[in-house]
Amino acid sequence: MTSYCRDGFTFVPIINAELITTDLHKAAEALKQNNIIALPTETVYGLAGNAFEPEAIEKIFSLKKRPFYNPLIVHIKSAEYMTHIAKDIPEIAFRVAMEFWPGPLTLVLNKKSIVPDIITAGKDTVAVRMPNHPVTLELLNSLDFPLAAPSANPFGSISPTTAAHVARYFGEDLEVVLDGGECLKGIESTIIGFEGEQAVLYRLGSISAEDLEHVVGKLKHHTSDDSAPAAPGMLSRHYAPSTDTFLTKDVKEMVFSHPDKKIGLLLFQENSISQNVAHTEVLSKEGDLNEAARNLYAAMHRLDHLNLDIIIAEKLPEEELGKSINDRLKRAVKK
Ligand code: TXA
Ligand code: MG
Repeated sequence: MTSYCRDGFTFVPIINAELITTDLHKAAEALKQNNIIALPTETVYGLAGNAFEPEAIEKIFSLKKRPFYNPLIVHIKSAEYMTHIAKDIPEIAFRVAMEFWPGPLTLVLNKKSIVPDIITAGKDTVAVRMPNHPVTLELLNSLDFPLAAPSANPFGSISPTTAAHVARYFGEDLEVVLDGGECLKGIESTIIGFEGEQAVLYRLGSISAEDLEHVVGKLKHHTSDDSAPAAPGMLSRHYAPSTDTFLTKDVKEMVFSHPDKKIGLLLFQENSISQNVAHTEVLSKEGDLNEAARNLYAAMHRLDHLNLDIIIAEKLPEEELGKSINDRLKRAVKK
């Protein structure tokens, strides 16, 4: 019999009723067999496998339909563990790790040979973070290997912030989706690398550039293009709904210029437009950027399942997490 789990106001059919679980032992056993599981982090859900086993890593790439040129983040149980997988670590990297870990900051460091090349797409650097989620930290502490984990969505699509989102994407392919509730941060980790003691920003995320700069000083911004992205989360189309999406500062004008369309709105704060709109999502009534980030992907998932003609998203203020949210929204727009 098919059972269902709630996902916002829709219900997701679950083929395997045992799929969504809080059973850490089951999750650990699957990982020891080189199988892939989904797990919660404070940012988004991840598809995790043993970072030391190329066989497990291959399964992640094939499940996500992710190109092999796009390297994975290795999730570790403690800041000290960084030295098992990375070398020549600059002093500043230890300093930011002390400040932000466990938490949504990923560090790109020189890799040690214990890290398989498939994780790093052949690069000599490895991306590392210590996630801040009690379920996943407990799991990591029960294992003698770290976990490679990209976000648990098919390549290019909207990232998952609930176990139900993951079940909708991969319900037929996974045995275990560890349930840790709704992700509290809601967008991916911020990624930085280093040139000597200078921090370089690769991907904006749950930690704002402003907060980082309090610790590392002025960030250098990494520039890359789509043909050779340093962090393919920076590809120009990514995090995208299947519904055509527009991004604008002037939502009213955009609504009126699409009179014959079934429109969904993704607004920051105010909900003042109802004419000619089928559904509206407001990210934060209070105008709180942290709350907006937390709600972003769930709102995009809901809008994407309403058979709308178009989604019109409102551009947020270009400050703090507003910048990270705008970055994701820009990449959600069809070019
Ligand atoms: O919050 C997060 O970071 C989530 C959770 C699950 O931890 N993970 C996540 O993974 O967003 P993923 O695979 O969707 O994005 C990882 C990004 C990619 O853009 C990848 O290119 C970049 O990290 N990356 C990984 N290794 C790298 C490296 N050695 N140099 C530069 N970028 C790297
Ligand atoms: Mg991703």
